[in-house]
Amino acid sequence: MRGKTLLIVCGGIEATHGIARAKEMGLHVVVSDMNPEAPGFALADDRLIASTYDVEATRAAALDYDRKIRRIHGVICIGADVPLTVASVAEALGLPGIPVSSARLATDKLAMKQRFSALGVPVPWYAALHSADDLERHLKERGPDLVVKPVDSRGGRGVQRLNTGIDPCLAFARAQCQSPTRRVMVEAFLDGPQVSTESMMLDGVAYTPGFSDRNYEYLDRFAPFFIENGGDLPSHLPEWTQHAVCETVEAAGRALGIENGNIKGDIVVHRGQPYVIELAARLSGGYFSTREIPLNTGVDFVGCVIRMAMGERVTPQDLTPRYRKPVIQRYVFPEPGRIIRIAGIEEAERLPGIEEIVVSLNPGDIVPPPTSSAARAAMILATGDTRDQALAAANAAVARIKVETATP
Ligand SMILES: Nc1ncnc2c1ncn2[C@@H]1O[C@H](COP(=O)(O)OP(=O)(O)OP(=O)(O)O)[C@@H](O)[C@H]1O
Ligand SMILES: [Mg+2]
Repeated sequence: MRGKTLLIVCGGIEATHGIARAKEMGLHVVVSDMNPEAPGFALADDRLIASTYDVEATRAAALDYDRKIRRIHGVICIGADVPLTVASVAEALGLPGIPVSSARLATDKLAMKQRFSALGVPVPWYAALHSADDLERHLKERGPDLVVKPVDSRGGRGVQRLNTGIDPCLAFARAQCQSPTRRVMVEAFLDGPQVSTESMMLDGVAYTPGFSDRNYEYLDRFAPFFIENGGDLPSHLPEWTQHAVCETVEAAGRALGIENGNIKGDIVVHRGQPYVIELAARLSGGYFSTREIPLNTGVDFVGCVIRMAMGERVTPQDLTPRYRKPVIQRYVFPEPGRIIRIAGIEEAERLPGIEEIVVSLNPGDIVPPPTSSAARAAMILATGDTRDQALAAANAAVARIKVETATP
């Protein structure tokens, strides 16, 4: 595999670990991104300027590179929700990848849920919304415990819980603004523990080394929005529940037509039963695939995804956790406004148990109001011999980091 060429779609900050991993594997790495300043470009051997979301532009740039400069042998995305771009490039160049039809389903929450319900994969009750009046009607029929969301956005943008007294017209309009196709849907809110899973399908069987309890301690603080404050690994759920989640994820992967490929699940365990909120056909963002899984299990998940993309064999053993080391991830949420100063990072990094701190905003940047994951300024990863040790380290780091903002 050494010396072969891998195209990584996205050069954002969350892609940098994966780009570095591909380089370590001896690959010639081409990165595509719209932003000429993308941090991943600094690690890449070659650069293509094309928006990650622009399927046509990325495909054209990849074909041109493949024809004129160097043969491309594999394509993946990291840190960007663009499976359609990846599947289209793979199809155009005859490379390994998931079907374009699977990628399409994975980026349309409505089509995905229709497919899941048709094939018996458990999902919350859902419906398409054409207007705020539609939403009023559902509220009358089903009561207020509903979630409104754009059909095709990400990062929690426009996802709102309605039992918070929010005006349905406003909720509908906010969700619609976040949808590139201006489509909105509603779902029943299912309470219960939420988990993130990261699996690889090998000939229709899911192997799931990534299993994290999502931390929603700020559900009330950020209501009506859902903003995750990191996660805990290994999971606290009983073994049999974890098993049921993994089986549901496998059924969901198959339902989308993904026999070989990696999938990221957002699952809620409601009254003991797993339901799929979403299944993404790509590597997770937020450092789950690149950092948390390797720290927690010793599994080189990104390496496995790269190998599969290059047409190499990945085995169940490659995906089997070697250990379960406690890992805690937490975020820093500053007051909204323009950042004046960030202090305490180095001190926090020196604390025992701190594996990594990634600062995503800089002085001069604007911290938006907490309506999506964009409101986070820094990410902390901590480990320890026990969960309590790792948690104490993460909390100590959060307390040390001071992000001073001023209202513009
Ligand atoms: N029906 C539901 N029941 C319970 N919680 C839900 C439901 N729908 C969404 N949520 C919560 O809101 C979060 C964001 O929703 P969703 O995954 O649909 O949006 P997203 O924009 O894809 O966000 P992300 O990129 O964080 O996955 C979910 O991870 C979950 O915590
Ligand atoms: Mg999601």
